[in-house]
Amino acid sequence: IRQLVKQRRPRGFPPGPSPIPVIGNIMYLATEPHVFMKKQSEIHGQIFSLDLGGYSAVVLNGYDAIRECLYHQGDVFSDRPSLPLFMKMTKMGGLLNAKFGNGWIEHRQLASNSFRYFGSFQKPLDQKILEECMFFVDAIDEHKGKPFNPKHLVTNAVSNITNLIIFGERFTYDNCDFQHMIEIFSENVELAVSGWAFLYNAFPWIEYLPFGKHQKLFRNAAKVYNFLEQIIRRFSEGRVCNFPRHYIDDYLNKLDKSADNLGSPFSRENLIYSVGELIIAGTETTTNTLRWAMLYMALYPNIQEKVHKELDSVLGSGKSPSLADKKRMPYVEAVLHEVLRFCNIVPLGIFRATTQDTLVSGYNIPKGTMVITNLYSVHFDEKYWCDPGTFSPHRFLDSNGNFVRREAFLPFSLGKRHCLGEHLARMEMFLFFTTMLQRFHLQFPPGTVPSLTPKLGMTLQPLPYSICAVRRQQ
Ligand code: HEM
Repeated sequence: IRQLVKQRRPRGFPPGPSPIPVIGNIMYLATEPHVFMKKQSEIHGQIFSLDLGGYSAVVLNGYDAIRECLYHQGDVFSDRPSLPLFMKMTKMGGLLNAKFGNGWIEHRQLASNSFRYFGSFQKPLDQKILEECMFFVDAIDEHKGKPFNPKHLVTNAVSNITNLIIFGERFTYDNCDFQHMIEIFSENVELAVSGWAFLYNAFPWIEYLPFGKHQKLFRNAAKVYNFLEQIIRRFSEGRVCNFPRHYIDDYLNKLDKSADNLGSPFSRENLIYSVGELIIAGTETTTNTLRWAMLYMALYPNIQEKVHKELDSVLGSGKSPSLADKKRMPYVEAVLHEVLRFCNIVPLGIFRATTQDTLVSGYNIPKGTMVITNLYSVHFDEKYWCDPGTFSPHRFLDSNGNFVRREAFLPFSLGKRHCLGEHLARMEMFLFFTTMLQRFHLQFPPGTVPSLTPKLGMTLQPLPYSICAVRRQQ
């Protein structure tokens, strides 16, 4: 916390809504904070500040402000804030929450190498994803067109892709221990931005209160780390130096090699944190995207019909989709992009912090200031999107039906800390979505339309819903 800007709105700092004594603006974050922040930016400007109970955060809104900071001042806006909650969870080590510096660089490099070289441990990754897609659609088929909640199935299938990279193996869909771990981990993703978490960051002494949601967060984290420690030990058995079978072997080899180097960031503890971060960052986001995509396909049968038409014309009957087909499926690409834009899976990105004092749009932002990137406000930025509140895949197509990239599209954020798993996530989304829609027609149980209101947390997910996946006649 000492590294956070403790002062309330220092001189030259961006303006913001008036704080109330003690808790500042925390109470505004209870319901849809991303929507609240966009509205505030219409009053105070694209760059404004919030008082989070004694420490100040800068909020960046709209594409221009986010590009200016994350891209043009990439080195400055690449730290993570030393919030008491993050310090307690990962001591600012690991990967996703690591301070900007050597430890982060080394961990990021190791993880990207493991992703890239997965094919040399095993089969090419897209082949392995396709194998998982088959388990996935067969498991859906077991519901025989009757209503079911797809949440667990999608979570299991998606998490198996990171499992392959990290542990070298997929887990069967009835592995309760792993599923329980993911469940409480994902509960923490929700709790991490709850009012209690902000209160804990402002007043860390509430750790000693026997009640409050932050206690649940700590208990969950302890269980998750304990589980990960055991599973890491199990999967590292039989490791042979220089012949890594998966990410864990790779990490432990690095750890062995750096044993004499006192400054090395590699440690058993950081291995646990990194594994946890890769599992949750890879699972929660991609799962939510696919769950929203299923929901919107059932909600808009005309859009689903166009997807079916494209799949049938490119694949004919019987051939399974592959990555090579992506280029010939602009409509599928447009649909997946519109789901990412419209549903805002990570609406406020992952909190950043400044590495040094800086000046943006005439405002002084001191070193160590917490920075919130309102990615939702980029995807609903009226300067770049026409009628942003409408779900319309067509905005990603030109008049000839070709896919077009749009600038103000940042679901994976921007700059040095942009999502490490973007490439993997894109492969997964395309292959799971096309394999599923090739085989099924998605519809809601007769007479029901689920809520489109998202469940709030670090990520936005649909509330639980039931859907029928009816086999298509091809
Ligand atoms: C970071 C989005 C899938 C691993 C992030 C960030 C966003 C994001 C917004 C924050 C970047 C920032 O600090 O500004 C998404 C979305 C996904 C997805 C929308 C799927 C649709 C994945 C997957 C993995 C992954 C599949 C890996 C298995 C990470 C990691 C970071 C990150 C490790 C932290 C990067 C760092 O601090 O250097 N992601 N992500 N993500 N993501 Fe993803």
